[in-house]
Amino acid sequence: MRRALVTGVGMQVPSRIVTNKELESLVDTSDEWILQRTGIRERRVAGPDETASSLAIVAAKEALDRSQVHPEELDIIVVGTVTGDMPFPSTSCLVQAGIGAVNAGAMDVGAACAGFIYSLCVASSLIESGQSRNALVIGVDMLTKFVDWTDRSTCVLFGDGAGALMVQASENGDRGVLKTVMLADGTGARHIEYPVGGSKYPASGEQRTPAKGLTMNGSEVYRFAVTAMGDACCRVLDEAGYSAEEVDLFVPHQANLRIIQSAQKRLGIPDERVFVNVDRFGNTSGGSIPIGLYEAERSGRLKPGDLVLTVGFGAGLVWGANLIRW
Ligand code: ACO
Repeated sequence: MRRALVTGVGMQVPSRIVTNKELESLVDTSDEWILQRTGIRERRVAGPDETASSLAIVAAKEALDRSQVHPEELDIIVVGTVTGDMPFPSTSCLVQAGIGAVNAGAMDVGAACAGFIYSLCVASSLIESGQSRNALVIGVDMLTKFVDWTDRSTCVLFGDGAGALMVQASENGDRGVLKTVMLADGTGARHIEYPVGGSKYPASGEQRTPAKGLTMNGSEVYRFAVTAMGDACCRVLDEAGYSAEEVDLFVPHQANLRIIQSAQKRLGIPDERVFVNVDRFGNTSGGSIPIGLYEAERSGRLKPGDLVLTVGFGAGLVWGANLIRW
C-alpha cells in the first residue's frame, strides 16, 4: 500500500524570548499564575519584519535539506495557518515562491491549532490517492500579532513558530501516516474568535468589532479540549487497530500542560512517552505539533519505525489526530 512517509523535518521560531516575568510589567499577572495554570515559562515573539511566511520558508528549507529533496521536485505545499501574512494570497503561495517550488501547487488550511493535523491529513490523502508524490506540510502561526496585549487572560498563552515536514510517497506500506481523523463543531465558533479582517468586519469597513484582539472563553475551551483530545486519540487508534500501550511517543498540541496531562491520563501513556515543550514556546497554534515532532526527532526521542500519536484542537471548534509510523 502506498503511504505518506515523513522524510525530513524543519522548524523556525523568532529569536526574541519573552518570559513570564517580562509579562508582569505588561499586564496584571505573575510568573507563578502562568506556570501553575498553563505550564508556560516563556514564548517566542515575532518582530515587526517577521511574518508567518518568513518563518515557514526557513522551516521549509530545512525540511527539504534534511530529506534531500530539491524544491522543483515538490508537487504540493500545504500550510496550516490562521495567521497568514494576509487574507490573500495564501501563505502557501508565498512559501512556494520563497523556496522556488516552481512545480508545486499550494494551499492553506484554516484549522487553527489543529491546522497541522488537518494539513497532514490532506497531504497524506493526496499521496495515497496518487495525486502527489512529494508534499511539504507546514504548520505556522503568529498569534502574538493577533492578541490584545492588555488582555491578561489570552496574551500570556501564545507564542510564534513554524514547523515543516517533508512527506513522500512510499510503496513500502509499513511506515508513514497510518490514519488521521478530522473533527469539527461549528456551534462552538464563538468560543475562540478573531473576527476582524474578513467579510463580516472588513479591516477597512466602518462596522468594526469592539474587541481589540482575539477573544476566548478559556474555561469553555478547556472543558472542550480535555474531552476532544482523548476522544480523537481513541478514535484514531481504534480505526488503525492499535492501542495506546503501543504508542512510542505522544506529541499533543502544546496549549496547556494540564490539558496534555489529562489526555495522557485518559490514554494511560507514561511521562517518558509524552513530548512536552509548552514551557519554552507556549501555544504556537499550527506550529505546535510539527515543532514538537522536530524537537523529538532531533533530540533522538523519535526514531524510524516508532509509532507516533499526534492530536490537536482549536478555534472552530476543530480537533483531530494523526497516527504515524515514523
Ligand atoms: N494572570 C493572573 N490571573 C489571571 C490571568 C493571568 N494571566 N488570566 C486570567 N486570570 C484570572 C481570571 O481573571 C480569573 O479570576 P477571577 O476568578 O477573579 O475571575 C482567574 O484567573 C481564574 O480564571 P480561569 O479562567 O478560571 O482560569 P483557568 O484555570 O481556567 O485557566 C486558561 C485559564 C489557562 C486560559 C485555561 O482555561 C485554558 O488553558 N483554556 C484553554 C485555552 C486553549 O487551549 N486555547 C487553545 C485554542 S487557541 C486557538 O485555536 C487559536
